[in-house]
Amino acid sequence: MARAKITIIGAGNVGATTAHWCAAAELGDIVLLDIPATEDMPKGKALDLMEASPIVGFDSNIVGTTDYADTKDSDVVVITAGIPRKPGMSRDDLLSTNAKIMTAVCEQVKSTSPNAMIIVVSNPLDAMVQQAHKVTGFPAARVMGQAGVLDTARYRTFLAMELGVSVEDVSALLLGGHGDTMVPVPSCTSVGGIPVTQLIAAERLEEIVQRTRDGGAEIVKLLKTGSAYYAPAAATAQMVEAIVRDKKRLIPCAAYCDQEYGVGGYYVGVPVVLGAAGVERIVEIDLTDAEKAGFQKSVDAVKGLVATMGQLLAS
Ligand code: NAI
Ligand code: 2OP
Repeated sequence: MARAKITIIGAGNVGATTAHWCAAAELGDIVLLDIPATEDMPKGKALDLMEASPIVGFDSNIVGTTDYADTKDSDVVVITAGIPRKPGMSRDDLLSTNAKIMTAVCEQVKSTSPNAMIIVVSNPLDAMVQQAHKVTGFPAARVMGQAGVLDTARYRTFLAMELGVSVEDVSALLLGGHGDTMVPVPSCTSVGGIPVTQLIAAERLEEIVQRTRDGGAEIVKLLKTGSAYYAPAAATAQMVEAIVRDKKRLIPCAAYCDQEYGVGGYYVGVPVVLGAAGVERIVEIDLTDAEKAGFQKSVDAVKGLVATMGQLLAS
């Protein structure tokens, strides 16, 4: 069986680190692409990563390029192109610049890899993935965004730290947009099978949820020169793996919801089954009234973001 061809657009922190995790897990051959102004940078990163292969023990061909011809007929395209947050900036501050970058990138992807699965990572995530869907015109099952795996991982990390238990025993779900309105679902959060509400008091749980909402900003504040990339890249590689290995992972992704959850044609974070056909199913769960209200607030925020993006792109 041929190896999967995985293209990563944007060879910056998230892109290069996604290449790293994908190579280490031997998910396929990798093309790392950036803009011509970066000259040989993608080639340098690709070669450096290739030279790790005898040590780590993976067989992946890794190519760095600024030419979309090298990405032709990719199976999966990860888009990390764009500018990241600096201290004081919200994800939404990136909207105008990144929407133009997303448009240009997706026009190229549409013609060079017409059958690819697209995983969008660039921020503001929920608007960028909506734009990728619009520009490529690909079926919604083949266009998705990475946010929920990261947000849930942060939540799981903080819960494990709080309880002094292995992260492997913490299972959790967060819904909604990748922003300040993300919605925890306590009824879907357990530790070793025990509902988290039996282990952590409601007030403390809310503090942990708030730290999760602020998780991206916490890293930006510490790094000062950019935003998080190790965990975002690991989250993205997990989605790539689910597709190329047809894992049927049930994980939260930004997926196109129309009738589902009554969203009406927008990308928001929901649990999906992710496999070789992309978003194979959106899983609808019962939410409490409070969770429903939180989810609706998050959907409204995403709708506002998409409307602003439309105005910015039209002006
Ligand atoms: P970075 O600045 O390290 O890398 C971005 C790369 O994109 C640069 O190398 C740049 O040259 C390249 N680029 C810009 N325009 C391009 C174009 N038209 N075509 C191809 N490449 C282009 O930034 P970093 O840290 O890698 O973040 C990338 C994006 O991912 C940001 O928008 C950031 O906010 C977002 N992000 C999203 C997360 C999520 O969970 N969804 C988590 C972390 C970051
Ligand atoms: C994060 O959550 C910046 O979206 C990015 O780290």
